[in-house]
Amino acid sequence: MSVNIAVLGAQWGDEGKGKIVDMLTPHFSAVARYQGGHNAGHTVYVKGTKFVLHLIPSGILHPGVTCIIGNGVVVDPQALFKEVDELARMGVNVDGRLLISEKAHVILPYHRELDVLSEARRGERKIGTTSRGIGPAYEDKIGRRGIRMCDLLGDRDALAQAVRENVHARNQIIKESTLDWKPLFDQLVTYGERLRPWVGDASLFLARLRDDDRNVMYEGAQATLLDIDHGTYPFVTSSNASIGGVCTGLGVPPSAIDGVLGVAKAYTTRVGEGPLPTELSGDLAERLREGGQEYGASTGRPRRCGWYDAVVVRYSARINGLDAIALTKLDVLDGLPEVRICTGYRTSKGVLTEFPADLRPLGTAEPVYETLPGWTGATRGATRFAALPSEAQRYIKRLEEVSGVPCAIISTGSDRGETIVRDDTIIQSWFSKQLA
Ligand code: IMP
Repeated sequence: MSVNIAVLGAQWGDEGKGKIVDMLTPHFSAVARYQGGHNAGHTVYVKGTKFVLHLIPSGILHPGVTCIIGNGVVVDPQALFKEVDELARMGVNVDGRLLISEKAHVILPYHRELDVLSEARRGERKIGTTSRGIGPAYEDKIGRRGIRMCDLLGDRDALAQAVRENVHARNQIIKESTLDWKPLFDQLVTYGERLRPWVGDASLFLARLRDDDRNVMYEGAQATLLDIDHGTYPFVTSSNASIGGVCTGLGVPPSAIDGVLGVAKAYTTRVGEGPLPTELSGDLAERLREGGQEYGASTGRPRRCGWYDAVVVRYSARINGLDAIALTKLDVLDGLPEVRICTGYRTSKGVLTEFPADLRPLGTAEPVYETLPGWTGATRGATRFAALPSEAQRYIKRLEEVSGVPCAIISTGSDRGETIVRDDTIIQSWFSKQLA
């Protein structure tokens, strides 16, 4: 029997999924990304060397593991080549281990232009996107005019026609500078030739892995509160980062998902605009930002920081059916005199304990906090729960109670080894053979 687990973000992204995925990868034959694009940035430290991956699953750092980019992902070929070349420079060869779905849509060079333009037009209501062209590429996909991987490898006349139509549509929007379709067409043909060895039927490949009893990990990018349907719309990304994205973005049935691990930080961060009910300012925010190195892996933007929000994680647990949480960056809270957990939002109409669809009440809402004592001892580098200061243990236990999900993994530092895997949790049953 294969064990196929989804690992996804339970907050607003940057929870440290890269590290958790990297740490779990030895249990899997393949790691598959199901949505997003190079807006993601997964930072992984291996023996002191820093790897930042945007598009390719971090499983690539493990020899023998196949990495899949699903149909739900939007791929900027230039960004992909850059990442492949960078990995090669660091001694990691992707050939024979990278499979891109032939149905994945292509981010065209002008999608980035459209992204920037759309943000400028929104003015103060801007989303704060990563300017990678993600939204416009998904717009073309949903508008049924997108160009897919298989189009780059197929009939040239059909590709020429598609490029002509797309460029015409682009020229209708950006009238000041007209784009010529032919150079873009030539560029895409060249890209296609380099991409060809990596492109194939990802859904079929995954089905065969299951038939062979091989384990697959589904790797989410961004996070539940950035999900196009379930996130803080419109301040979201343009894909389904939550669990439904696994089925649609990889062509796997729900029965092929055996477990869902949500990754949550011991506090909360977000980049870009939109509500963050527990947002802090001043020294405390600065302390979390510096302690957690809270700067975007893709854009370098400082992340907004706040206390742990149990309303958000409970909501994520509901949307995704979380079996467990991997709690990250606990060590960043070391030394704080007190720590807080948000359990509701006080609005003019009473206390909200469920995350609302309409964001307006959140604008003036006051978080309702439970305050717990902090800890003077270090959690940094701990590998056993019992080794944590008692106050840190209490914080985690309370966090589990109010979030409604057990913390199976606790990350206590940036390196692979700085992790607590708790026994008596579901993780053990998922990988009982391998962990024994
Ligand atoms: P887009 O995905 O570039 O369109 O950006 C939409 C929103 O998602 C913005 O608020 C971004 O900051 C946010 N976002 C996109 N990718 C990430 C990520 O990997 N981590 C955190 N936030 C992200």
